Amino acid sequence: MRNIPQHIGFIMDGNGRWAKARFLPRTAGHLAGLKALKKVILGCINEGVRYATLYCFSTENWRRPQDEVNYLMGLFSEKIMGEFPFYEKNGIRILTLGDISALPEDARKSLEEVSEATKNFDRISVQLAINYGGQAEICQAVNAAIKEGIREISPEIIRAHFQNPDVPPVDLIVRSAGEFRISNFLLFDSAYAEFVFCDKLWPDWGEKDVSDVIDTYNTRVRRFGGVVQ
Ligand code: IPE
Ligand code: IPE
Ligand code: MG
Repeated sequence: MRNIPQHIGFIMDGNGRWAKARFLPRTAGHLAGLKALKKVILGCINEGVRYATLYCFSTENWRRPQDEVNYLMGLFSEKIMGEFPFYEKNGIRILTLGDISALPEDARKSLEEVSEATKNFDRISVQLAINYGGQAEICQAVNAAIKEGIREISPEIIRAHFQNPDVPPVDLIVRSAGEFRISNFLLFDSAYAEFVFCDKLWPDWGEKDVSDVIDTYNTRVRRFGGVVQ
């Protein structure tokens, strides 16, 4: 029987290289990346994946040229809520992950609005990781616990103080565009995730690629430190 990961995390990389190969500005790569993102969500839904986390903007991505950062912030403010009919039709609940309070106001508002508007959709929960960093996430959870007066931290306490504690740990982390690193993504919950690295640049991704990575996932034996008989 084919085993479907409950939660897949996607490090969507290669937008810039995709654009460069076409003599286009990097921003054109991000727009194409957004189209791929929709196809990948549909691919997840078709496979029965219940949770997906899409790495959209890291805590380190502020280092990019200002016009590129502005363009990405514009995508968050203008495009995300504009896709509401897509979420409604497909039962997509949007959650944000990361410190969106540091975003320009219109981007922050649009993300808050979309989370509220989609909160009852239940085919798939999609976390958009924006101004997200795995190290910052752990610090935020520990600080939240300290504020409650907790004096001794455990893995369970850290998880319980995550932004979306109902989202289960990631089973599979996928990275496009041929890089072999985690780039500060889901550091805590990746403890026992499987990893699949693909050469294909993110804007070229579609529904079939989701089936392919799930096929690869099915070749893995997850032992969680134990012994499989
Ligand atoms: C990933 O594509 C998208 C974001 C980080 C926002 P990149 O923009 O990193 O693309 P490359 O790595 O430069 O090709
Ligand atoms: C990781 O990609 C961040 C996102 C996909 C949002 P980067 O392109 O920023 O990562 P590095 O710089 O190659 O590690
Ligand atoms: Mg990159």
